[in-house]
Amino acid sequence: MINSKIKKCLFPAAGYGTRFLPATKAIPKEMLPVLTKPLLQYGVEEAIAAGCDTMAIVTGRGKRAIEDHFDRSYELENQIDGTSKEVLMDGIRGIVNGYTFSYTRQVEMKGLGHAILTGQTLIGNEPFAVILADDLCDNSNDTVLTQMTKLYEKYPDKCIVAIEEIPKEFTNKYGVIAGELIEDNLYKVTDMVEKPEPQDAPSNLAIIGRYILIPEIFDVIKETKPGKGGEIQITDALLTLAKQGKVLGFQFEGTRFDCGSVDGFVEATNYFYNKEVK
Ligand code: G1P
Repeated sequence: MINSKIKKCLFPAAGYGTRFLPATKAIPKEMLPVLTKPLLQYGVEEAIAAGCDTMAIVTGRGKRAIEDHFDRSYELENQIDGTSKEVLMDGIRGIVNGYTFSYTRQVEMKGLGHAILTGQTLIGNEPFAVILADDLCDNSNDTVLTQMTKLYEKYPDKCIVAIEEIPKEFTNKYGVIAGELIEDNLYKVTDMVEKPEPQDAPSNLAIIGRYILIPEIFDVIKETKPGKGGEIQITDALLTLAKQGKVLGFQFEGTRFDCGSVDGFVEATNYFYNKEVK
C-alpha cells in the first residue's frame, strides 16, 4: 500500500448487467465471482493497494448484496469460526474491518458521467479515483491504480485516464483519445470521443475503467449535455478539461480483462485459475 493523496475511490455499480442475464436477474453483476471472489472485491483490493481508505459506491435498485458483502455476517462467521473454512474469509474480513464503505443510489441510468456526479456527495471537494469493476486488471508489479496514483503525485492538477491500444475495429466499444506523447507511456490528451466507429476514431488508444479525477470535474459534468446513447458521458466531460490541457492518458503496465463481456469473463477466470489455483 502506498501513501497517496487519493483517499477515495468511486465505484459506479448501478448498471443492470443485461449481458449476463439471467445470472444478473437477482444478483448485481459486480458480485459475479472470478474464481471465488466477486469482481467488485478485486476492484476494492486494487483501490486499497493504491492507498485509498474510503470506497464510495454508487448503487441502484437490486444491489443490496454489495452492501451485505462489505459488512460483517455474524451468523456465517459464527458457523465457521475455528474451522478450516475460516481462512477463506480472511481477505474480506480485513477489508470490512479496515476500510470505510459509503453508498448512494443512482435513481435513473443516465450514463457514466451521471453516475460519477451522483457520487459527488460521497467524495466532496478532493481528487479521487474511479474504478469500473468490470475492467479487471492484474499486474505483477504495481497495480494499475497504484501506477496512476504515483503519476498523479507528479501532475496534481490533472485528470488521468488509463489507456490501452486496441484493434481499430473495436473503437466503438470504448472512449478513444488523441494525444501528444509527453513522456514514456504518457499522453497529453487533445481529443476524446465516446465509442466512435473505426473510421471516425482519432486513434486506437482506448480508455479503460481507471480514472483519477480532480473535483472540478463535477461542475463540468453538470454542464455536459447528453452524448452517445443519449447519456451523460464522462468522456465528453473530460474533453472539456482536455481542451484546457488538464487530461493525461496513461498507457499502463498490466493485463486487463473486459469482464463486462462473457468472453472476457471466461478469459479472466482461466487466467486467475492458472495463476492462483493450478
Ligand atoms: C465506459 C466508458 C468508456 C470506456 C469504458 C471502459 O463504457 O463510457 O469511455 O472506454 O467504460 O470500460 P462502458 O463499458 O460502460 O459502456
